[in-house]
Amino acid sequence: QRREVHRHDRYLRMKPLNVADYRRLAKKRLPRGMFEYIDRGTEDEVGLRGIRNALDATKLCQNLLNDVSQPDTSTTVFGKKLPIPVIISPTAVAGLVWHDGEVHLARAAGSMGIPFCVATQSMTSMEDIAERAKGTDLWFQLYVFEDRSLTRDLLVRAKALGIRNLLFTADTPRSPKKEWNMRNGFGIPIKPSVAGGLDLLAHPRWSFSVMLRYILTTGMPTYAHYPPEYRTSITRASVWDNVKLARKLTWDDFAEVRRQWDGNLVLKGVLTPSDAGRALKLGADGIVVSCHGGRNMDCAPTAIDALPRIADAVDGRMTILADSGIRRGSDIAKYIATGADAVLIGRATLYGTATAGEKGARDVLEILREELDHCMAFTGQARLDDITADLIWKQTPAV
Ligand code: FNR
Repeated sequence: QRREVHRHDRYLRMKPLNVADYRRLAKKRLPRGMFEYIDRGTEDEVGLRGIRNALDATKLCQNLLNDVSQPDTSTTVFGKKLPIPVIISPTAVAGLVWHDGEVHLARAAGSMGIPFCVATQSMTSMEDIAERAKGTDLWFQLYVFEDRSLTRDLLVRAKALGIRNLLFTADTPRSPKKEWNMRNGFGIPIKPSVAGGLDLLAHPRWSFSVMLRYILTTGMPTYAHYPPEYRTSITRASVWDNVKLARKLTWDDFAEVRRQWDGNLVLKGVLTPSDAGRALKLGADGIVVSCHGGRNMDCAPTAIDALPRIADAVDGRMTILADSGIRRGSDIAKYIATGADAVLIGRATLYGTATAGEKGARDVLEILREELDHCMAFTGQARLDDITADLIWKQTPAV
């Protein structure tokens, strides 16, 4: 039995065929605490299961005998043509899954011609990523700090780099209850513990190639966008004590950022038509309909279920992006059919990066592109614009 599993793993390493294969490989390579931080949900993980169930329950119709010899998977988002309707989602500490993980992810995005969204809690600064992943279209994700002047500085820096698109994440008013991480000891700041030490020893490939390289080159990893005077390593609690994210975050803050940011402003984490309407009124250029990949509020509705009513309410007046749970090209098609203009991808490309850096992330994007192409062919749609709500199978009650 063990030999069988081993043989299977060797085969996977030779040729991972899908995102689930990459997830398996990432699980093997990463320390358990870190893998669970990326992979799992919160509380009872009802939200996480719900996302998969809702996507699986969404069926697309097959339309026969259309010319789908060359489906066109491209689209335009904020005036820029993308070969696939995908943006790499902001994910905190992506730099820990692989040495310089953020740079690798950004390069993979660039080589595919899609944008990479730098996170406020990135371990590599936006300037470094811009320098080392030249040519990649960078977006920036904002978590508002308690000290609003720090937030303003980040916007000035993003603008100076030519970043045009800002995601304002509003769905994380508290640190979510990640019980898996409370049990396995992983958290930021990373607290040294016997269990954590053993976890690292059990994953020598990661420990040596990531942690040791950071320690030898730049010192203990840290949050690059936190101001230098507070920028101690992520193993030290002082980062959190000194630089707090805003405890009180309101629509006034969103309006204030709108005044300060002359590029495209996108509110991330929208799940109701009324919040979408409010964002629109305050001058948002777009929204991300998102349940944060099941990582925040365990009893939140899923993004795919929330999307149709929001799309109806928005009625084409701003760009609608969506995310959560995308593991197949058909998941992308389902979001597009349900009303999204494009999607964000979080974990899928992190699994790829954790397995093989830039190459792994690029491979995952290529797999998703190919699966989307297949899905369009099977559904009989030659252009992404043709993927509309008409394509969603509606179960009619038995007469
Ligand atoms: C995230 N996400 C996230 N979102 C955000 O706005 N700011 C952040 O700092 C983070 N950090 C973060 C870390 C990790 C490890 C993950 C997996 C995710 C949420 C992310 O942008 C996105 O909304 C979800 O990940 C989408 O779901 P999938 O694609 O991961 O299923």
